[in-house]
Amino acid sequence: MNVAVIGIGRIGLPLSAAIAGAGHQVFGCDINAERVALVNRGENPIPDEAGLGDLLRRVVASGNLRATTDTIAAVGKCEAVLFAVAVDVNDEGTADLTPLFAAADTVGRGIRPGTLCIFDTTLPIGTTRAELAPRLESGGLKLGRDFSVAFSPERLLMGRVIEDLKKYPKLVGGVDPDGGPRAAAFYKRAFGDDANVRVLANAETAELTKLAEGAYRDLNIALANELAQVADAYGIDIAEVTGAANSQPYSHIHTPGTGVGGHCIPVYPRFLIQGRGPSALSSLGRDVNDAMPRYAAERVAGLIGGLEGKRVLILGLTFRPNVAVTPHTNAVDLLREFAGRGALVHGHDALLSEAGVRSLGFEPAAEPLAGYDVAVVHAYHDAYQDYDWRRIAPLVLDARNAMDRTAVEAAGVRYLGIGRPVSVGE
Ligand SMILES: NC(=O)c1ccc[n+]([C@@H]2O[C@H](COP(=O)([O-])OP(=O)(O)OC[C@H]3O[C@@H](n4cnc5c(N)ncnc54)[C@H](O)[C@@H]3O)[C@@H](O)[C@H]2O)c1
Repeated sequence: MNVAVIGIGRIGLPLSAAIAGAGHQVFGCDINAERVALVNRGENPIPDEAGLGDLLRRVVASGNLRATTDTIAAVGKCEAVLFAVAVDVNDEGTADLTPLFAAADTVGRGIRPGTLCIFDTTLPIGTTRAELAPRLESGGLKLGRDFSVAFSPERLLMGRVIEDLKKYPKLVGGVDPDGGPRAAAFYKRAFGDDANVRVLANAETAELTKLAEGAYRDLNIALANELAQVADAYGIDIAEVTGAANSQPYSHIHTPGTGVGGHCIPVYPRFLIQGRGPSALSSLGRDVNDAMPRYAAERVAGLIGGLEGKRVLILGLTFRPNVAVTPHTNAVDLLREFAGRGALVHGHDALLSEAGVRSLGFEPAAEPLAGYDVAVVHAYHDAYQDYDWRRIAPLVLDARNAMDRTAVEAAGVRYLGIGRPVSVGE
């Protein structure tokens, strides 16, 4: 079948390559002409996405994937159109749907009768039906009669998209009565009869399901963060507590840390907050998690007699380890909190260029990394695992409780985690 994917970014490109790899003809549509040209040369713009490089080379060489900026022409040749254009929050904290609206307007001018349109991007409840489906009628076709619409959230971890595409059940919910069943049939065709697809009552059910997954994780992390502060108040190690609590099947407490980053988990509770129904917990979770960088900076300040003039190195500026993705990264919140207390802060990221480090507001650290008062390990990239912490700083703050404290201590360095007692010694 012929499939158009609108937006060949972190999600849309691996999705396009996976469908093309299954033997379908995929048109990857994007407004970014540079990216389109790169993809058509078989070059991978997302090197940290596992398996994408080889797959991309293969499907571009076979002609199964073609990237294009001419979305209208591409969708006119396709029976299915998938939307993977990102939706972020604006300064007011509500969903910025402008790019997705623009994409839907364009697609509406090109689709042919019989097309199935699926929105993959996480959305506030009701958006697919009330805002997006009507835009697809801009070319004169009628929803339900001429084309179908469904919402089907991506449930993927960046860096592992290709593997995750088939790992979890694909959830689909229709706007028109045919939307859900047609989307289910599409995914079976795209990924094989053994693809696990669950048809939900409607698009709104699927939209809320995705928001529920995100809100659950944000709140769970907020609980972990609150418990970590309780642990600190008593000198208890939260890692021992959660390990013990989670040894029975009713407890799934996540790992505390200096907040929640990326353009998924911290964003989706906002979609609940802007919608109908109560959202007290969603707001509270955001507040608790957003306060963690301040908490961490104050904890360090308390340990080393204030931060004024102290040399602080923040390592791992991406929102999580081993992917070069920075939206809503808490590293910038840590910079604000440490610098705001007078510390001289440098940034380092094994995955980012110097310009990338600067673009986040950091002064890049000079190599070799040495002579700091505190090293704050935010995203613990694999590249940091063999670092000689003793050379870098006498105190390491493990901002995500991701490091092996015994290894840090064995190197003669004090270790401090979130909700974890600082190493005894000095
Ligand atoms: N990144 C994740 O880990 C993740 C996980 C699950 C779900 N999602 C969802 O996927 C969505 C997409 O995220 P992403 O990380 O791929 O974003 P991205 O920014 O990497 O990619 C979006 C792409 O869309 C293109 N685009 C923008 N407007 C367009 C238009 N009018 N026509 C065609 N292309 C257009 C952009 O140029 C860009 O290449 C997110 O909003 C989120 O809801 C993301």
